[in-house]
Amino acid sequence: MNQQSDSTFSDPFNPESLLKWYLEMGVDETIGDESVDRYAATAELLERKKAAAQVQQAQQAQQGGPRAPMMGKPAPVAQQQVQATDEMVHSAVEMARKAQSVEELREAVLSFEGCHLKKTAMNTVFADGNPKADIMFIGEAPGADEDRQGVPFVGASGKLLDKMLHSCGLEDEVGDRSKIYISNVLFWRPPGNRNPTLSEIAVCLPFVERHIELVDPKMIVMLGGAAAKAVLGVHDGISRLRGRWFTHATPGLSRPVQATALFHPAYLLRSPAQKRRAWGDLLSIVEKLETL
Ligand code: URA
Repeated sequence: MNQQSDSTFSDPFNPESLLKWYLEMGVDETIGDESVDRYAATAELLERKKAAAQVQQAQQAQQGGPRAPMMGKPAPVAQQQVQATDEMVHSAVEMARKAQSVEELREAVLSFEGCHLKKTAMNTVFADGNPKADIMFIGEAPGADEDRQGVPFVGASGKLLDKMLHSCGLEDEVGDRSKIYISNVLFWRPPGNRNPTLSEIAVCLPFVERHIELVDPKMIVMLGGAAAKAVLGVHDGISRLRGRWFTHATPGLSRPVQATALFHPAYLLRSPAQKRRAWGDLLSIVEKLETL
């Protein structure tokens, strides 16, 4: 946040500064049926902080005065953030490694507290479809509809994807996901659908890799450049990645998995002229799947 927004939020009772802050944080919709009195909540918080400070002062007085300040400089904020992310990634790796089934992995993701997106999301969005399917699709992150329903790809882009999958025979009925499995790199919606940060991807990735290992599909298809970069560890944009084949290998996989990328359906909604290329890519995916 820049200095100006820091100073504008210095007064939590100023509605204009609060609104600006909400916008900067990506809040773009109201979801509750009843209004919440945030002023009362803030006043209560300030009261509690005041009371806690008074208790601390009283305790220090009993122990013969305030404690000496800690020696040495505290770590810079950026360094603290890197350390925190490292710890969370480590904890994600441990939790993911312990999961021996897709259901155990779902439980692990549901109980993981290391991704701060969980605090602003309404639901954890784990996966949909058949975990025994030969083909697994991996998108970027849940949007507003997915966050509300706790299911991936149920909004406008999901509807387009379902139609595409039905047209090429991967869904018997539009929306019948019994022949496919689908998930995302992130399990929680980034506020306002902003792009995921590298640290958000880093803390979710151990679960995604374990997810692929446990589903053990014949093929994975990343939807969009962000998912492709995260899972395949490549740097090219989606226009250069689509239509190419990769092998994805991790220690827990019995054999390397065939991997490719498709344009994200949300991009196809914005750029319908690209549907022709996506359709060609999808047909080669189906053709290849039949040979595996
Ligand atoms: N876009 C994604 O990448 N994933 C979803 O689940 C929905 C939209």
